[in-house]
Amino acid sequence: MRKPIIAGNWKMNKTAAECRELITALAPKVKDAKCDVVVCVPFTDIALAAELTKGTNIAVGAQNIAWADNGAFTGEISAAMLNEAGATYVIIGHSERRQYFGETDKTVNARLVQALKNGFNPIVCVGEMLAEREGGKTETVCRTQVVGAFEGITAEDAAKVVIAYEPVWAIGTGKTATDEQANETIGYIRSVVKELYGAKIADGMRIQYGGSMNAKNVDGLMAQDQIDGGLIGGASLKPDDFAYIVNAAK
Ligand code: 13P
Repeated sequence: MRKPIIAGNWKMNKTAAECRELITALAPKVKDAKCDVVVCVPFTDIALAAELTKGTNIAVGAQNIAWADNGAFTGEISAAMLNEAGATYVIIGHSERRQYFGETDKTVNARLVQALKNGFNPIVCVGEMLAEREGGKTETVCRTQVVGAFEGITAEDAAKVVIAYEPVWAIGTGKTATDEQANETIGYIRSVVKELYGAKIADGMRIQYGGSMNAKNVDGLMAQDQIDGGLIGGASLKPDDFAYIVNAAK
């Protein structure tokens, strides 16, 4: 049995004051959750979020991690910095990083290696663009991204990774993949993990759905056998909506 994991990706939202408000409202609403609960906050909110979630069942994540230990990498944040600030999870290879900031399968792999080396719980994002789905390339794209991300990673380390399947056309658009589409592609991703690492790792790996997941569609998505939780954007910014999603994941 895989324990579901619901992670909020706040993206570039919430100042420290707003972070305090959101986490203070959220914590009591999710205290009896049956799934793992994570909030992936902007870098500047991590230390505060870690402080505010102390003694709760909410873990704090970052939205990126540098591949190098330190040095001349303007604008990057290192594993040691994230660790010191209190992050235990990290999102890697989000489609917005790939689309707007030149992230590639190679950089995703380098960041994943660094995250694992430093004991983080990585959430690696994969997913196709609309034209790719319409062109029948969904599986090829997901395969390439998974194989690229896991290049050189041992089975022992791979077992610590969560994959988020986020079809790019469903992100922030209000268009969710149907339950069946999401389940089918996640099942396919699991088969790629099986090819790479065998059945035991594949069956144990948690694979989330992401893309306009909300309080209205969570029940249908979570009822699918391949879907182990969600990576939630917009709906994670509202405590009631996010709490509803968390409490629906059992
Ligand atoms: P939305 O839930 O806003 O569509 O965002 C999904 C996402 O990109 C989470 O990483």
